[in-house]
Parts: sequence; C-alpha cells; structure tokens
Amino acid sequence: MKLGRLNHVGVATPSIEKSLELYRTMFGAEPHGAPFDLPAQGVRVCFVDTPNSQIELIEPLGEDSPIAKFLDKNALGGQHHVCFEVPDIHAAKAELEARGVRVLGEPRIGAHGTPVFFVHPKDMGGVLTEIMETPAH
Ligand code: CO
Repeated sequence: MKLGRLNHVGVATPSIEKSLELYRTMFGAEPHGAPFDLPAQGVRVCFVDTPNSQIELIEPLGEDSPIAKFLDKNALGGQHHVCFEVPDIHAAKAELEARGVRVLGEPRIGAHGTPVFFVHPKDMGGVLTEIMETPAH
C-alpha cells in the first residue's frame, strides 16, 4: 500500500457556521462551497481550503450522529480524524486487514464522492484515520 497525500483533517464542531466565521476571522479563509448533508453518515459537512490540504468541518446531523458523542466530551469541538489518500481503496483495506488492523465497515462513498473507510484509532496510535481513494483530479 502506498500512502498518498493528506487529503484533509476532520474537525468536529457544534456549529459549522460558527466555525466558518472563526476560520474567516482568524485566517481570512473561505469555505469551499456551501455546507451539505450526508444523511447516511449522520453528518453535515463543509470544507475549508488550505494551500496543501483541506479542513473538513463536521456537524452532527440527527440524534444518533456519530459526532454527537465526540461533542459530548469536547463541547467546543476539536480534531476528529485525519484522512490520507490511497490509489486503490479495496487493496488498502485488504492489506490492512491481513495485518489484523480493525477496519470500521465496508468502503462507502465519502464527502468527496470517492470510497472511504475508517481505521480504528486503537490500531493507529489513538488517531481515527480515514482512508480515501484518490479522487480523479
Ligand atoms: Co473526513
């Protein structure tokens, strides 16, 4: 498996609007398009561009959002995951699983329209890690 670029850093927030205001005020950074809902994943998402990567702002969508528990522990929000690109998502999953790494669920279409999966933080030094097939640029 070849590790590709850092696609984004996921940041959980109780309010995408407030976070966007913070990025605007602090850094003059603008959102990459409008926030959008990913109902299947229970999140609302908005990206902020940086020159070499992106910040993925994630807000809970619905009662049983996977982000809700994180925000219970971190009321301000905070860094939630990192996302690396790989050339072949299924090859990456097979290779990690062959090493005994816990992959959370089957690859599914993520916020960039390409398949993603998550690696259990206990198998990645405490860091929830998203693996994404490199989008066609
Ligand atoms: Co992500």
